[in-house]
Amino acid sequence: MERAEVGSRRGRAGEIPGPDDVASALARIAPYRRRTPVFPVEVAGRQLVLKLEHLQLSGSFKLRGALNALLASPGATEVVTASGGNHGLGVAVAARLLSRRATIFVPEDAPDSKAARIVAAGAELVRAGGTYSEAVEAALDRVERRGGRYLPAYDDPLVVAGQGTVAAEVAQDAPQVDAIVVAVGGGGLAAGSALGGGGRKVVAVEPERCCSFHDALVAGRPVDAPTDSVAASALGATRVGEVPFAVLSAGSAESVLVSDEEMLAARDALFEELRLAVEPASAAGYAAWLAGRVEAELPCVVLCGANTEWVPS
Ligand SMILES: Cc1ncc(COP(=O)(O)O)c(C=O)c1O
Repeated sequence: MERAEVGSRRGRAGEIPGPDDVASALARIAPYRRRTPVFPVEVAGRQLVLKLEHLQLSGSFKLRGALNALLASPGATEVVTASGGNHGLGVAVAARLLSRRATIFVPEDAPDSKAARIVAAGAELVRAGGTYSEAVEAALDRVERRGGRYLPAYDDPLVVAGQGTVAAEVAQDAPQVDAIVVAVGGGGLAAGSALGGGGRKVVAVEPERCCSFHDALVAGRPVDAPTDSVAASALGATRVGEVPFAVLSAGSAESVLVSDEEMLAARDALFEELRLAVEPASAAGYAAWLAGRVEAELPCVVLCGANTEWVPS
């Protein structure tokens, strides 16, 4: 769960990335990331393209931002972050690929299943604090005492540029697509898509009661938002990041909301109809498209994560 990360200690808020930063990121991470496929499908007589990013190494797009930030910071032999979710795993796998040390702080009650994946990726796992914010504070204290690069989950220009490589690949591999549909937590993927998508519209999808970007648009600035959703472990940023919001509010991102029920039904439909197994957050965009809330001729829905439990019967 990546909660609010505002503040200069946590990232490089203030530096706003541009399309060139996504192009640089794509070249930088190319030897390490999987080039995930685009998959044109017809569902109930309607056409769409799916970007199968849930097949990314580490199980989500989060690897891309972590790779980009680490490759652009060659002196940072140790990377530290706080996240028991996809960001923590993405950082752990990126660090292993680049032979760096990773220390991932998680709250004391973080689920063992997620912690086990982080440890299996070779990172040091530290349980600290009763909440995500306390785990962040512990991680920041570690960096202040021992050094290393604290890697934010979304409020960082290099992380945003790295996430934008998903959309850059869509633009290359499915140029006929006219909109890119993504799920939003702290806004890194959406902001990166706005930069990397070659001017295509970005549809930013959030759960109804967990919508930091929607609430920021209404307020005209990032504000605290509730995080009540079955997808809160992935999309539950209390506040959209300053860097993502600066990018998104300057561009043409459209905010769309879905209910938890729609998201879960979409996740089930992806498996039943297409045999694609994703986590609930990853089905948010598909839910918006099924509900007719995506206005585009041929959208690309990014399936962004597959870190779900596998329980064979
Ligand atoms: C599967 C999945 N989708 C989307 C997001 C949202 O990403 P961002 O925080 O960059 O908006 C996350 C964040 O962890 C995620 O895990």
